[in-house]
Amino acid sequence: MIEKDFIPGVAGTLPETGTIRWQAPSNIALVKYWGKRPGQLPTNPSVSFTLDTSATRTILKYRRISTPSKAPEFRIYLDGVAAPHFSDKIGTFFERISVYQPFLSSYEFEIRTENTFPHSSGIASSASGMAALSLCLMDLERAIYPDAKSDMYLKKASFLARLGSGSAARSIAGGLVEWGEHASVPGSSDLYGIAYPFEVHPVFRSYQDTILLVDKGEKQVSSTVGHALMQGHPFAHSRFDQARQHLDELQPVLKEGDLPAFISLVESEALSLHAMMMSSNPYFILMKPGTLEIINRIWEYRRETRTPVCFTLDAGANVHLLYPAENKEAVRAFVKEELLVFCQDGQYLQDQVGPGALRI
Ligand code: PMV
Repeated sequence: MIEKDFIPGVAGTLPETGTIRWQAPSNIALVKYWGKRPGQLPTNPSVSFTLDTSATRTILKYRRISTPSKAPEFRIYLDGVAAPHFSDKIGTFFERISVYQPFLSSYEFEIRTENTFPHSSGIASSASGMAALSLCLMDLERAIYPDAKSDMYLKKASFLARLGSGSAARSIAGGLVEWGEHASVPGSSDLYGIAYPFEVHPVFRSYQDTILLVDKGEKQVSSTVGHALMQGHPFAHSRFDQARQHLDELQPVLKEGDLPAFISLVESEALSLHAMMMSSNPYFILMKPGTLEIINRIWEYRRETRTPVCFTLDAGANVHLLYPAENKEAVRAFVKEELLVFCQDGQYLQDQVGPGALRI
């Protein structure tokens, strides 16, 4: 499919008012997306676990206006409080998607959003937030174009979400989601995420993610700036090749439940992502001393107990601990005894692989 396929045909009747509610999950990448081309298109394919309890709930109220405005009008609230600091981001998002949803300028919106994870946890809510809002907008679109093909619904929700925040393309479907065109992944596209199309061993269906909140503050470098620094980065091409190769290598690993191979691939991805940050111009480090302490404790614990636990990182200092459900008790005891001391205010989130977005 190409971008033009997401422009709808002739509109039916525009509903006057209504309320739509969706919940969309956060996701954690195994093979990381870092670097983009204009139009929020990724420079390499990526794959992630959809999370379960870390999610954004959004209520979208719409009211038709008599004279269509130039840009869609909206008010946004976070946890019941007006959140004007989100206006620019949402305004840009509406601008980017208006060609694909031309009816937007005929409405005034009220967007009420809340996250299930603490606001100041350092966990990015942009993926889950953009996915939840896109799904709400797709419900409105469906009311206006009732004849649109139903298989387009989730694809287009992911397509729209991507235009808000790249990784949001992977916050619609559940389980494992792949985003980015890759020759050996059938149906893959730079435009939207797809449910991972290969066999996945049951161990990965209930994989656990303990998110250790090492630093809950604002990131020093936004992901937008980080992606941009991949342009002209001396190692960019090798990095993009490495990500493609990792995606291929992951296929038999996920099928067979090969945990040692999974661990080495996932940790290598996390460190490669941060290595790109450390070798860009300007360079930066998002890990904190606590991040490195945790990584070393994980390696030591794994060596001593042979428990198949590994870490991954986002563009930040927090550490995601990934492990099979059957190791839940042992790993959680290890977290409490050895790792919480490195977390800000001893805080962490307990999550696992989830079923994807839900209408609420
Ligand atoms: O969606 P963005 O633009 O915030 O980028 C997210 C990039 C990483 O989280 C670092 C990796 C990924 O694939 O999610």
